[in-house]
Formats: sequence, C-alpha cells, structure tokens
Amino acid sequence: MLKDIDIEKGDVIDAEIIDFGSNGEGVAKCGVYPIFIPFAVKGDVVRARITWTSKDYAFGEIVEIVEPSVCRVKPPCPYFEKCGGCDIQNVEHSFQLEMKRTCVERALKKVGGLDVNVPLPVSLNEWEYRNKLALPFGQNKRSGRVFLGFFEKRSHSVVPMKWCKLQGQWAADLIEDVGEWANECGLNAYDEQSGKGYLRHAVARMLDTLTLTLVVNSKAQNIEKLDYLTQKLNRHFVDYTIFVSNNTKNTNVIMGDSVHLVYGTERAQDLGRFKAVVSPLSFLQVNDKVRDAIYDDVCDKIGADFDGEIVELYSGVGLLTAQLAMRLTNAHITAVEIVPEATNDADALMHNLAIDNVNNVCADAAKYVEEIAESKKPRVLILDPPRKGCDERVLTVANKAGFEKIVYISCNPQTLARDLKTLSSKYKIDYIQPYDMFPQTHHVETVVGLLRK
Ligand SMILES: C[S@@+](CC[C@H](N)C(=O)[O-])C[C@H]1O[C@@H](n2cnc3c(N)ncnc32)[C@H](O)[C@@H]1O
Repeated sequence: MLKDIDIEKGDVIDAEIIDFGSNGEGVAKCGVYPIFIPFAVKGDVVRARITWTSKDYAFGEIVEIVEPSVCRVKPPCPYFEKCGGCDIQNVEHSFQLEMKRTCVERALKKVGGLDVNVPLPVSLNEWEYRNKLALPFGQNKRSGRVFLGFFEKRSHSVVPMKWCKLQGQWAADLIEDVGEWANECGLNAYDEQSGKGYLRHAVARMLDTLTLTLVVNSKAQNIEKLDYLTQKLNRHFVDYTIFVSNNTKNTNVIMGDSVHLVYGTERAQDLGRFKAVVSPLSFLQVNDKVRDAIYDDVCDKIGADFDGEIVELYSGVGLLTAQLAMRLTNAHITAVEIVPEATNDADALMHNLAIDNVNNVCADAAKYVEEIAESKKPRVLILDPPRKGCDERVLTVANKAGFEKIVYISCNPQTLARDLKTLSSKYKIDYIQPYDMFPQTHHVETVVGLLRK
C-alpha cells in the first residue's frame, strides 16, 4: 500500500520528473507514490493533471511544461503524441538509448531476479528506418473525402496523415497515390460501426521494390479500379506488386487470412546478404540495418566452426536460418515456424540459395521441441519468439535437454526477463546486447547468449 497521500483524479500538481517507466513515460513521485506521465521527460518540471489513481500508482497528463529537461528535444513530427507510433520522439536520441539500456537491466532485476550489467544498445539509424507501414483508411463525413491515416488515441476515428518520419519518402508517395486513387474512383472507406464501406487498410513493405496489400471489406479476389491505381503508383514506383486481402470480419485484426496477387510479379528482395521472395503475411524485422547486425551477432555467438545440430524456434521466413546455414556449413539446422506461408518462403529461400543443411518445419514451437529434443540431441537452441515470449513448455524442455548454448533474441524485456528466470536454473548469462531496432519508440530488441551451467 503506497498511497498515503491525498491525490485524486482531476487534481493538478507541479512535479519534477525524476525517472522513466518501461513504456517511455516520465515518472514523478509524491513521497514513494509513483505518478506515470506520458511524454514527460526525465529532468522536466511539469504541471500535470491526474487522470487515474490506484493504491499503488497514478497516471497523469501534462498541462504545461514548467521547466524543460536538458534531454528534451522538439519532436519533428506534427503527429507526435496523437498517432501512437512513436512515444519518445521528444527525447534526445542518446538519452533514448540510456532509457532502453536501463529498461532491460531493470526488467532482468525486477522480473528475473538477475543482476546483469547491460551495455548501451547498438544504434545504426534514427529516422526513416521502417520498411513497413500499415495504415487504416478513413473518410470525412461531410466532404466524403477518403484518406489514409492513423487511429486517434483511445478512439476509433481515423486522423489523416501525409507522411511518417519513421519511413522514407516512399511512404509519403504511397499515401498520396492511394488517396488520389480512392477519391478519384469514388471508393469509400470501411466504417467499423456499420460494417459497411470497402477500403480497410493499406499495408506496405518497401525493400528493393514496393509490395502493397490492400485490405478490403469484400470477398472478391480483385481490387476495384485497379488500372487507375497502377496509373497513380507508376508515378513513383516500378516493379511493384499489389495484393488484395479480404477481411469482412468485425475485428481489429488488420489482415484477412490470406492474400492474393492482383498486379505485378513477385520478386526476390534484397535481404542483406541475399535475395528472397517474402509473402505479405510473413513476419520480417522492420529495420533492415539493425536486423543484419543482430543476425551477424547471433552467428558470431555460435561460432563459425560449430558442427553440431541447431534447433531454431520461431524462425519466420528463414532469414536468420539462411545466415547461419551459409556460415556454419558443417552444422545442421532445424528451423521451426508456425505460419505456413513463412515456412514456404523459408523453403524457397533455402532452395534458391542452394542451402542443404536446413530442415524447415511448420509446427508449434512447444509441440515440436517436446517431441524431438531427446531424440536428436541438438547442442544449440535459438529462440526468437514474438512479444509474449516463449511458451513455458519450450523452456522446460530447454532446461531438461541440456543444450550447450542458447541464443535468445527478444523484442520485449519483460518476457525476456521472465523466460531467463526460468532458464537460470540451468543456464548462465554469458552475453547480453540490446539493439535500437525501433528508434523514437520505447521498444528495444535484445540478444542474450546463455551457457549451460
Ligand atoms: C519475432 S518473429 C522471428 C522471426 C525470425 N526469427 C526473423 O528474424 O525473421 C517470431 C516468429 O514466431 C512465429 N511464431 C509465433 N508463435 C509461434 C509458435 N507457437 N510456434 C512457432 N512459431 C511461432 C511467428 O509467426 C513469427 O514468424
């Protein structure tokens, strides 16, 4: 019970921001009672309105910045604080890195009970690093004008947007082309309330060439007025592909279950050290440079002369798998991924690169590892799970099976710390390195090397 002071919702207080929280917010304290204030920066003095209280902590919102922190910078994006994509764009980048370092170190201590000195994240870019965007369509009720934008915070209304500094100029061009096409062709945007309207989301990935997926509220496997769309896109893009994804469900999930190619020819894209075709449904790291640095790091941690069996769980489209297979030519890798399209991409990748020391398996990681760990006696385990971390059964098997080494790639310090706690009965941390995969946001990627005790 922390709350022994009289703070209520609606109160306005002056507070010094003495710390930051794991989601990038500023933290003020009244005695020992913490108040989390989004967009406040450590070192600020702010006037803040209390928006929510509990016995353990409160939330507030900035009314006025009384004295700005030396770590505060003017955010270059006009949509900052509204769009929800970036949450620390107003923090000087070198201090963003310190926040991320501290966040990983604290999670390991608090959640994992592990005392580890964590270095600063490796940082390779600050802006225009994202290779992917996913924007909802909106429609102005009065003018009927259709646009791409972002969901306003805590609301389902779409705010128009012209560009995003996390993506390059390609995103601004795409937003313009798609917006003009939708309006000039008289198409309408999907309305969540009524379930009516055609255009739901534009999802795009820019590697060598653009892949655009239009998510529509229709079962037809084509795009209305496609010729007109290509005329618009031809102004800015070449050799692009367009997919349609049918999503007629009343759901927050962006993509439908499948995608259908409606324009162009699928091409192998530059993925660092090789080229490969990537399905719009497959997971791909959003920051190409940092992705490559992480993959190099993982290869180095296993060592070029490793010649045993490796199991890689949560292997996606096989990018890391291919890197490992090409360098560790005497090793054999079993790569396990649950999305069939991603496994197909991974198979095609190994085939195109003439890699013969990989076996791609489409399966649930936990089920697979429970079945094979004993029989194959793999020596190295690689884990790159989604944000929710590893299935507990994977960790139980890892502890029992006696891998010599585990390399864990994580995009969530909290679940990483939880999983390392489980693994710490049998493994010790040999190496840890955060990466700034998502500059301007509080998110951080971390590579951890574990050795059997
Ligand atoms: C963070 S991504 C890693 C992808 C890959 N290692 C890469 O670098 O491109 C996590 C992957 O785990 C897959 N996945 C999620 N749950 C899974 C499960 N239960 N079993 C196997 N794979 C799963 C997702 O489809 C996704 O491709």
